[in-house]
Amino acid sequence: MRTVYVNGAYLPENEAKVSIFDRGFLMADGVYEVTSVLDGKLIDFAGHAKRLERSLNELDMPHPDVLPDLLEVHRELVRLNYVEDGLIYLQITRGAPDDRDFVFPDPETTTPTVVLFTQDKPGLANSPAAKKGIKVISIEDQRWARRDIKTVQLLFPSMGKMMAKAAGVDDAWMVEDGAVTEGTSNNAYIIKGNTIITRHLGNEILHGITRAAVLRFAKEAQMKVEERSFTIAEAQDADEAFITSASTFVMPVVEVDGVAVGAGAPGPVAARLREIYLDESRKMAV
Ligand code: PDD
Repeated sequence: MRTVYVNGAYLPENEAKVSIFDRGFLMADGVYEVTSVLDGKLIDFAGHAKRLERSLNELDMPHPDVLPDLLEVHRELVRLNYVEDGLIYLQITRGAPDDRDFVFPDPETTTPTVVLFTQDKPGLANSPAAKKGIKVISIEDQRWARRDIKTVQLLFPSMGKMMAKAAGVDDAWMVEDGAVTEGTSNNAYIIKGNTIITRHLGNEILHGITRAAVLRFAKEAQMKVEERSFTIAEAQDADEAFITSASTFVMPVVEVDGVAVGAGAPGPVAARLREIYLDESRKMAV
């Protein structure tokens, strides 16, 4: 049984409790982060901590007292649960007032709820999918307009995953006004020649922590990066495609809406980026 963290306490998972009035439960009034663990160390913790603070600020959510100590809490959970490879899930909600109300509760009397738990993923960095590549379908992006805030409103992405599953593929790329925004839980890229193309930052996509690192490494390796929108037709005509996220790192995409991308197998650029990303992030892990 896992040991989890809830509001200052480390408890067995079946003893951890949150109120039925919690705003995360009633209103999806919560933000989250997922940080990967490789060899017992946290990958890009500083990036996740920074984005978490931004998400809180964008929603006027009070900062929980534990905020400055989150690295210690992450490390303690890794230690208590003997995590070698896996993920740490963190969620902060606006807390639990004593009734349901659309108006935000008074931050003086309602303090944020903070929950963290670990997910064991043995061999996370050696996933067989990385060698085979994944297949995606396109779906219309029906999420709310502030996708740059990492909220727990994951119903549409979850429906997207189910649409992918029903279509016999691995994931869905969401499309808005003819352009790809991102995957259900990852950022989307195509490669044409020596150029990596991925959507520019804005409110329409999550500002991926893996995205920032991969683009930095790509530039250092003299690859060209274009941050702009692209279409599904362009993806189908690309040499390679891939996704990035804290749980998949760099994952090749080999088929889009039934059309093979490039040779229909993982290509050399995505493979190289995956290798660089894993090597460099392991070196900087804490
Ligand atoms: N998802 N876009 C969306 C919509 C996401 O949900 C995620 C992450 C990303 C990639 O961000 P990062 O590189 O910081 O992980 C992009 C996490 C992994 C999840 O929901 O499980």
